[in-house]
Amino acid sequence: MPKEIRLNAFHMNAPSHTWAGLWAHPNDASIRHDTPEYWTHLAKTAERGLLDAIFLADVIGVYDVYGNSPDTAIRTAAQAPTLDPFPAVPLMAAVTENIGFGVTATLTYERPYLLARRFSTLDHLTRGRMAWNIVTGILDSGARGAGQGGLTDHDQRYAVAEEFLKVVYALWEGSWADDALVRDRQTRTYTRPDRVRRISHHGAHYDLDAIHLVHPSR
Ligand SMILES: Cc1cc2nc3c(=O)[nH]c(=O)nc-3n(C[C@H](O)[C@H](O)[C@H](O)COP(=O)(O)O)c2cc1C
Repeated sequence: MPKEIRLNAFHMNAPSHTWAGLWAHPNDASIRHDTPEYWTHLAKTAERGLLDAIFLADVIGVYDVYGNSPDTAIRTAAQAPTLDPFPAVPLMAAVTENIGFGVTATLTYERPYLLARRFSTLDHLTRGRMAWNIVTGILDSGARGAGQGGLTDHDQRYAVAEEFLKVVYALWEGSWADDALVRDRQTRTYTRPDRVRRISHHGAHYDLDAIHLVHPSR
């Protein structure tokens, strides 16, 4: 079996990701990242080029360490402004068939119950083309914005992440049986309640007792 190479386009919903300053080039299009046409064009181009996926980086916060100020990052568009990566996905999915979407989400500032719903929703709307780049945050400025004072240390963030993932997997895989949704118009049964169960989790960081809000996606 020959090895297959996987090719992803690497981008971010910002004027520049790791190509700082390139937005100033007259032929650079990424300054239009705040328009729907930018994303539909990108997705169609990437699919035509047979890429496997479009990967969207994300960072919560503004870089403000250099010169003890956010001014340089803001003036030069070093990942600022950064728009929410998720809404670009349905735009891209609507004009493509096969390409996948890897979206970065910082779980530190999310609730598992709600983030699980967002991924399930997008997995439906993309017909099973979603992936999650799981990160825990890198910037104090983001932690301060989210009301956490500052970034907690690495091992603590990863311990929280471990538990977060346990909960979202339980919601995705353990709450609705694959055959729960029947949509039977005759019996007026949309979903069989005996095939849906509540997830109870009482851990160090998360405490919930919930039925996942979305039926199983691909
Ligand atoms: C391919 C790749 C993409 C990454 N993208 C992001 C990103 O979009 N946002 C982010 O906050 N961190 C991103 N990271 C950094 C990781 O969150 C993490 O901090 C880094 O891999 C160091 O690993 P560690 O935290 O386990 O030490 C990325 C890392 C890699 C290797």
